[in-house]
Amino acid sequence: MMSHLIPWPFEPNTSILGSNDVHVWCASLDLKPSQLESLYETLAEDERARARRYHAQKDRDHFIVARGRLREILSRYLKISANKIHFCYGAYGKPALASSTDRQPLHFNISHSHGMALYAISLDREVGIDLERVRPGVMKENIAQLFFSPYEVEKLRSLPDDLQQKAFFNCWSRKEAYIKARGEGLHIKLDSFDVSLCPGEPPTLLRSSAGPDESSRWSLYDLNPGKDYAAAIAVEGHDIRIKCWQWGETPTG
Ligand SMILES: CC(C)(COP(=O)(O)OP(=O)(O)OC[C@H]1O[C@@H](n2cnc3c(N)ncnc32)[C@H](O)[C@@H]1OP(=O)(O)O)[C@@H](O)C(=O)NCCC(=O)NCCS
Repeated sequence: MMSHLIPWPFEPNTSILGSNDVHVWCASLDLKPSQLESLYETLAEDERARARRYHAQKDRDHFIVARGRLREILSRYLKISANKIHFCYGAYGKPALASSTDRQPLHFNISHSHGMALYAISLDREVGIDLERVRPGVMKENIAQLFFSPYEVEKLRSLPDDLQQKAFFNCWSRKEAYIKARGEGLHIKLDSFDVSLCPGEPPTLLRSSAGPDESSRWSLYDLNPGKDYAAAIAVEGHDIRIKCWQWGETPTG
C-alpha cells in the first residue's frame, strides 16, 4: 500500500513497466518561455487549436505544458518521438493512445491543479488519477452535501472538526480518481458509490451500484505530492506497485 512517506525522487533512468507497476510522475506546469515553446512544437494540431481557445494565458500555458509533458513521458516508454504520438478519446473525453501509436498496451491518466500535474502510467491496467489543491475553509461550503454519497456525508459529519478537512479531500480525490479510471466522468452519479474517507483508514471503494464485483475490481491509493495538495489514484486489479517520481525540470520562480 502507498505510504505517505514514499519520496518523489528526480528522474530515474527507467521506462520499464511490469504488469503490476504504476509509475506516477509529478511535474510543474510553470516553465520558462523557451521550455514552453519546445513543448508546444510537439503538440498535434487539435491540441494547438485547443490551446488557442483558452482566454487566460496562464491556462493556455498550463495546458501546453501538461500535454507536452505527457508526450515526453509517454515517449520515454514507447521509444518514439513525442510528436509522433497520437491520441484518441473515449466517449466522455478520456485520452488514450490511438491504435497507430499503441506499440504496447499502455494506459495513462493526468490530473492538474494550480501549476502542478500528476501523470499515472501503467501497462495494461486502467488507471485514474486526481490531484486537488487543499483549500482551507472548504468545510464551510456545502460541497460534501452536493457531491458525496449519503454514507460519505454521514461519515464526514461524525468526525471531529480537526479531521474533517483531511477526510473531505480523501473523499474528493478518491471519488474523482475512481470516475476517471472508469473514464465516464460525471456520467457516473457521485452518490452511486462510496469510498472510505476517515483519516488512517485504507483507501477503498466500499460500494458501487455498477455491480457487486466493482469494489474488488479496483484498488485505491493515496499519493502525497506536496504540502498543499491531496491526490489519489485508482488502479484496476490488486497487488499494485506504485512508484512516484518528479519530472526533472527547474520550475520558474
Ligand atoms: C473531466 C473530468 C474527468 C476531470 O476533470 P477535473 O477534475 O476538472 O480535471 P483533472 O485535472 O483531474 O483531469 C483533467 C484531465 O483528465 C483527462 N480526462 C478528460 N476526460 C476524462 C474522462 N472522461 N475520464 C478520465 N480522464 C479524463 C484529461 O487528460 C484531462 O486533461 P486535459 O484536459 O488537459 O487533457 C471529470 O471527472 C469532471 O468533470 N469532474 C468534475 C469535478 C467534480 O465535480 N468532482 C466531484 C468529485 S467528488
